[in-house]
Amino acid sequence: MIIAAYNPKDGVGKTTTAVNVAAVLAGMGHSVLLVDLEPDMNASISLGVRPSQARPSAADLLLGSRRPADLVRAVAGVANLHLITGSPALGSIDQMLRHVRQPDRRLADSLRPFVSEFEMILVDCPAGYSLLPASVPEAADHLLVPIRADYLSLESLAHFLRWYRDLRRARRARANIVGILLTMVDYRRRATSEIVEIIRVHNRRGVFRTEIPEDPRAVEAPSHGVPLVAYARTRAAIAYEHLTRELLSRVRRRR
Ligand SMILES: Nc1ncnc2c1ncn2[C@@H]1O[C@H](COP(=O)(O)OP(=O)(O)O)[C@@H](O)[C@H]1O
Ligand SMILES: [Mg+2]
Repeated sequence: MIIAAYNPKDGVGKTTTAVNVAAVLAGMGHSVLLVDLEPDMNASISLGVRPSQARPSAADLLLGSRRPADLVRAVAGVANLHLITGSPALGSIDQMLRHVRQPDRRLADSLRPFVSEFEMILVDCPAGYSLLPASVPEAADHLLVPIRADYLSLESLAHFLRWYRDLRRARRARANIVGILLTMVDYRRRATSEIVEIIRVHNRRGVFRTEIPEDPRAVEAPSHGVPLVAYARTRAAIAYEHLTRELLSRVRRRR
């Protein structure tokens, strides 16, 4: 099963969510592959990979320049968790894929060999609407959509959901939206309650019950190369455990 942390908006918690959900699933005993599709390889760095160790990476996966088995590495210190790293080369992957047949299907085709090997594949997506992120909905089974509880995120979410509805109608997206996840939630901010309420009312059961609270340790953990859930037992770390259980029950219900 392929689950992507997905939102065209930047800085909403995609990488933090992909890394921590992957780590919790691995901790539960599932065999997990995390695929980092970002040129700045934040997810890989958060798991202790240095930028100089980026090769082979997801760019080789998409270009078909290495055998699939050569791309996967075990994550040090987290049993059952495997990684295909991001790489700066992903920054120009759209141009590099220009001449291949059906570039928008390339990600789906490249991930297929791993589906039988891993119980769960988590994809950390880049922001934006360019070829690589736009090809994720055709590759994934489920999109997990992190969003911050602020006014502009609300506007961006509405835009994204309209775009996604059109993509589904045009049959260019296979994935369903498994849930919208409120991240970096801070009820000390005045507008938070109101915005959370608007998001919940407009999207009904589409929003995860679990919310991820604002947590300075979430910002700190990547510099130590370990997921938050392994770094500190804070409220946000515990929330990621709850979220993962909620995610599993949602995907099982949809089967
Ligand atoms: N729960 C949280 N509390 C505080 N900061 C967070 C939390 N989750 C993520 N962050 C920080 O917010 C920034 C954006 O998060 P990130 O996961 O990189 O988002 P994206 O991948 O969508 O760009 C990062 O600096 C990250 O460390
Ligand atoms: Mg990111």
